[in-house]
Amino acid sequence: MGLPSLRIKDFTLRIPIIQGGMGAGISMAPLAKAVAQEGAMGVVSSVALDILTSNRVGKKLNTYEATIQEIKDAKRDGGIVGINIMVALFKDYEEAVRGALDAGVDAIISGAGLPLQLPEIARRHKKEFRTALIPIVSSDRALEIVCKRWTRFGYLPDAVILEGPLAGGHLGWKRISDIKKEENKLETLLPPVLKAIKKYGEIPVIVAGGIYTHKDIVRFLEMGASGVQMGTRFLATYESSATEEFKEMVIKCKKEDIIVAEKPGSPCGMLFRLIKQSPMYQDTLQALRPPKCDRGYVLYNNYCPAMDNNKDYFCICNGLLGATIYARTDEKPLYTVGENAWRINRLLSVKELINELVGD
Ligand SMILES: Cc1cc2nc3c(=O)[nH]c(=O)nc-3n(C[C@H](O)[C@H](O)[C@H](O)COP(=O)(O)O)c2cc1C
Repeated sequence: MGLPSLRIKDFTLRIPIIQGGMGAGISMAPLAKAVAQEGAMGVVSSVALDILTSNRVGKKLNTYEATIQEIKDAKRDGGIVGINIMVALFKDYEEAVRGALDAGVDAIISGAGLPLQLPEIARRHKKEFRTALIPIVSSDRALEIVCKRWTRFGYLPDAVILEGPLAGGHLGWKRISDIKKEENKLETLLPPVLKAIKKYGEIPVIVAGGIYTHKDIVRFLEMGASGVQMGTRFLATYESSATEEFKEMVIKCKKEDIIVAEKPGSPCGMLFRLIKQSPMYQDTLQALRPPKCDRGYVLYNNYCPAMDNNKDYFCICNGLLGATIYARTDEKPLYTVGENAWRINRLLSVKELINELVGD
């Protein structure tokens, strides 16, 4: 079966695939641009762009300037480009939203917490914008909370991403036991979300987490999803900005190497999937990293639990920065992947991957 196109707000994706935002520094302009060129949506991650874009282009930029630069570079040859801005990045959230809107990004995708203020922040900066606002949720309940709040600002999501428990990065559940429950499987979560969204209008629902093959995509489209978001498959491409070590680790890892970290875990207080051999995780198991915070992207009220507790928390900022080619850090890396990363046995180009996914 060929894949249908996907219309969101003012644009149409020829291929109903969104490349998941991957921070820090994994989905930068080179990956997003390559994906956009193939007719899917390329997505830049907003994490730490002040450091990463500055290093990539060789000139010191602040978050606002770096966000604009990254989006412009990703959109240079046309195509549809979004930006992923995580709610958990308290320090730079608003600045990234402002930069993204001024750069004319096609979509702002926001999760890792509920993006309750997003339309208000966007409208405060620009009365009118053609950028689509897309929240990431993990349940119909979370979707209702977002829609109710956004309605107060006179705005409704232009699309919704429903991310299930097999995804990479932070997960929307409190306990590991939750993500194993039948009721939290993506296939189980989708029908109530489709039902809940109907009340608000014709809003496309895009599913994410564990989607690996053309067949998987077709299966979810047949269930009523309008598209898919995929992370791990795009991580394992030549164009992603993961370090060679990270890519090698993805190719080599076995099913049992992929775990969900709870304690020790992410200072963001959410579950986090990773390859257990990740050097930063291994150090945390033995409390080897001195507690400190020198990046501050997830600081809330000037506090991050990794500042004074090196036994229960790894440093998410430095750990992720250690996994991209665009950062310079002496700290050890953290390798986050989706549950299906063990199935990857070689790198592909984005073109090869998209051809495979559309069923050619
Ligand atoms: C290396 C990596 C980094 C990620 N970083 C982010 C992020 O910064 N923000 C976010 O919302 N999701 C992030 N994710 C989740 C992806 O965008 C995507 O939704 C998810 O991985 C989908 O599951 P899949 O990897 O099984 O395809 C990340 C995933 C990976 C693998």
